[in-house]
Amino acid sequence: MYNETDPGSAGLTSLPPEEEPARQYYYMEKCRRIVREKYEKTGQGPAFFVQTFGCQMNARDSEKLTGILRAAGFQETDTEQQADFVIYNTCTVRENANNKVYGRLGRLQNLKKKHPGMRIALCGCMMQEPEVVERLRKSYPFVSLVFGTHNLYKFAELLARTLESDQMVVDVWQEGDRIVEQLPVERKYAFKSGVNIMFGCNNFCSYCIVPYVRGREKSREPEEILGEIKSLVADGVVEIMLLGQNVNSYGKTLKHPVTFARLLREVAKTEGLERIRFMTSHPKDLSGDLIEVMRQVPKICRHLHLPLQSGSSGILKAMNRHYDKETYLKLVDQVRTAMPDIALTTDIIVGFPGETEEDFLETMDVVQKVEFDSAFTFIYSRRTGTPAASLADQVPEDVVKERFERLLKKVQEISAKKARRLVGNVEKVLVEGVNDHDTSLVTGRLSNNSVVHLPGTGELTGRLVDVKITACRGFYYYGQIVGRGAPDTHTS
Ligand code: 5AD
Ligand code: SF4
Repeated sequence: MYNETDPGSAGLTSLPPEEEPARQYYYMEKCRRIVREKYEKTGQGPAFFVQTFGCQMNARDSEKLTGILRAAGFQETDTEQQADFVIYNTCTVRENANNKVYGRLGRLQNLKKKHPGMRIALCGCMMQEPEVVERLRKSYPFVSLVFGTHNLYKFAELLARTLESDQMVVDVWQEGDRIVEQLPVERKYAFKSGVNIMFGCNNFCSYCIVPYVRGREKSREPEEILGEIKSLVADGVVEIMLLGQNVNSYGKTLKHPVTFARLLREVAKTEGLERIRFMTSHPKDLSGDLIEVMRQVPKICRHLHLPLQSGSSGILKAMNRHYDKETYLKLVDQVRTAMPDIALTTDIIVGFPGETEEDFLETMDVVQKVEFDSAFTFIYSRRTGTPAASLADQVPEDVVKERFERLLKKVQEISAKKARRLVGNVEKVLVEGVNDHDTSLVTGRLSNNSVVHLPGTGELTGRLVDVKITACRGFYYYGQIVGRGAPDTHTS
C-alpha cells in the first residue's frame, strides 16, 4: 500500500540528489541493494518490527516508518524474535513512557545476543532529550540507530548508513523547519487514516515537554492536506482523523493563513469521504466558527476531545492554559447547545505542583457539571526542563494517588451513566474488523467514537452500517445491524 512513485530515482551510479524527497528515494533504492546483497544467501528478505508508544501522531509516524522500511526491501513481522530490524517510536510525555522503553531495551539486549545481526533503532520524542541519548550511548551500546522528531523524513538515509555500519548512528536535531511531502506511507487500516495537518506546539503549557521535543508549530499547506485526503479516499479510506497538537490553531503560521474551520469545510467536500475526526483541540483556540462547521456538516463526527487539565482557575493559570474554569464551562455550554448529542472527552492531570484539596474539588466540580463521556486521567509527571518541574510545592505522592482514585471513580460512574442513554437507538457504525475475542462478532465505532460489537463477518470491515444498540456494558455496546446491510437482507 505504500506509494510506489519514485520521483527522484537518479540511479545509484550518480551522487545522491540534494533535493527532497528525491534524496530519500535514492536511499530507499540503496537500502534495497544492500538488503539484496546481505540476505541473498538466506533466500528470504529481512523482517522489521515497529513498536509505537504514545499518541496518534506517533502512530501516524510509525506508518511512515513502515512505508519506508517496506520500500527499502524489508517485510513486516509481528514479533520481535523474528525481526532483523526493530524500531521503537518513543513518547516522553510522562516519565513512565520513558521507563517502558528502557525496560523493553533490556529485553532486546538478550534477544540480540541470540541474534547478533539484529539492528535496533530508536526514534520519536524521547530521543530529543539529550540526557536520554547520553544514557543510550553509555548503557545501551547495542543500539544501532538513534534519531529524533525533526529528521524522521531522513529515515531512509539513516537506515542505509546503519545497515553499512557497526557503530551506533546518532542523528538528533534540536530544530527543524521543513515538512517533506510525498514519502511512502503504509497504513495500518485500509479504511481509515490519520492525516497530519500540523506539527509541533507553541503553547508551552508549564507541565508539558511536547513543545521542547516536537518544536515550533508548523502547518501543512491546505492543498497538500486536501491532495493527500483525496488520494487516501481513492485508495479506500472512508474516515480520516486530522492530527495536530492543537488543531484549533491550524494555519496561523502559513504564508496565506487559513483557519481550522475553513480547512474542515474544504476537507468535507471530498467526495467519498464519510467521516472526519480531529485531535486535539485546545479550549483557548476553539472558535465559534468551528462549532458552527461541526454543527452544519454531518460528516464531522459528533465527538470533541477538549482537554481540561484542571478545574481550578488558579492551577490553570499556573499551567499557562489561558482559560479559567468559567470560560471552560461556558465553552462546553456553547458546544452542547449547538450539538446536544455530541460526546465530550477530556484529559485531566492530578497533582500539579501547588494543587490543594480545594483546587482538586474544583476539578471534581467541573467533571460533575460537564459529565464527560470519558476522560483520560493522569498523575502529574515532573518533566525535566519544563517550568513546572522547578516549582517548589510538588504534591506528595500519597496525596496525589488518593485524589487520582477519587477522580477515576467519579469519571467512571459518569461515563457508565452517560453510555446507557444510547441503548435502543439506531446509530451508524463504521465496522473496523473481526472481534479479537469472539470471531462471530465484528467491532466498530459510532460517530461519537464509542465501541460497538455486533454479529457479522470480516466482509463488513470498512463499511458504515445502521445498528440498533441493544446493550451497554460500561464502556462499550452490543448491537444488531438493521435495514440495508443486515445479515438477512445483505445483497451486495
Ligand atoms: N504529567 C502528566 N500528564 C501530562 N500530560 C502532558 N504532560 C504531562 C505531565 N507532565 C497529559 C496532558 C495532555 C496529555 C496528552 O498528556 O493531559 O493533554
Ligand atoms: Fe503540551 Fe499544551 Fe502543547 Fe498540548 S497544548 S502539546 S499540553 S504544550
